[in-house]
Amino acid sequence: MTSTAQHSTAQHSTAQHSNRLQLRLARLDDAKVLLEWRNNSLTRQASHNTALISEDEHIQWLTSILENENRKLYVAEIDGEPAGTVRVDSEKYGFELSWTVSPMRRGSGIGKEMVSQLAKGISEPIRAEIKSGNVASIRIAEEAGMMFDREEDGVLYYHRDAIPQPMIT
Ligand SMILES: CC(C)(COP(=O)(O)OP(=O)(O)OC[C@H]1O[C@@H](n2cnc3c(N)ncnc32)[C@H](O)[C@@H]1OP(=O)(O)O)[C@@H](O)C(=O)NCCC(=O)NCCS
Repeated sequence: MTSTAQHSTAQHSTAQHSNRLQLRLARLDDAKVLLEWRNNSLTRQASHNTALISEDEHIQWLTSILENENRKLYVAEIDGEPAGTVRVDSEKYGFELSWTVSPMRRGSGIGKEMVSQLAKGISEPIRAEIKSGNVASIRIAEEAGMMFDREEDGVLYYHRDAIPQPMIT
């Protein structure tokens, strides 16, 4: 993902939320709300690691992600309030996306909006791993242009190829 793409993504707003949904990079002072969302029972159920995360573990994880050039953590804000988060991990052939919406804000289209908005700013291939039965996340992946690839051990693999860039003449 180019820095230009990241910049334009962060500036972009969604039609559905009437210019209210904004993506920005996460900060250390997001730690509290991110931990609340991470330890929510539905989030744990949807995660590969279903364990409760301690505050220490979480701060260590957040600090390392903020320092890692190959991982970007975004916070989606609605009217300046954190409403969801998307992690973008750089891989050999593109990026893996994973997401969570604030438990208080689920079911109002935020997941679809924030992931689609980010995906639009990425021209490289993107993919997501979704536990079987996570219907809302399947819809989110599809809305972001990803297609079902395969299922292994109860995990659905979704993927979108690179988006061809116009030739500059
Ligand atoms: C999954 C999650 C991100 C969905 O976020 P959300 O903002 O509630 O989703 P949206 O409101 O954008 O809904 C997306 C679609 O799923 C549908 N949907 C939402 N909640 C649903 C539910 N509980 N059951 C079935 N469908 C649901 C919506 O109707 C919408 O479908 P549509 O495109 O046909 O209109 C949120 O529930 C969450 O954070 N869950 C815990 C963490 C998680 O599952 N992360 C993803 C790991 S891959």
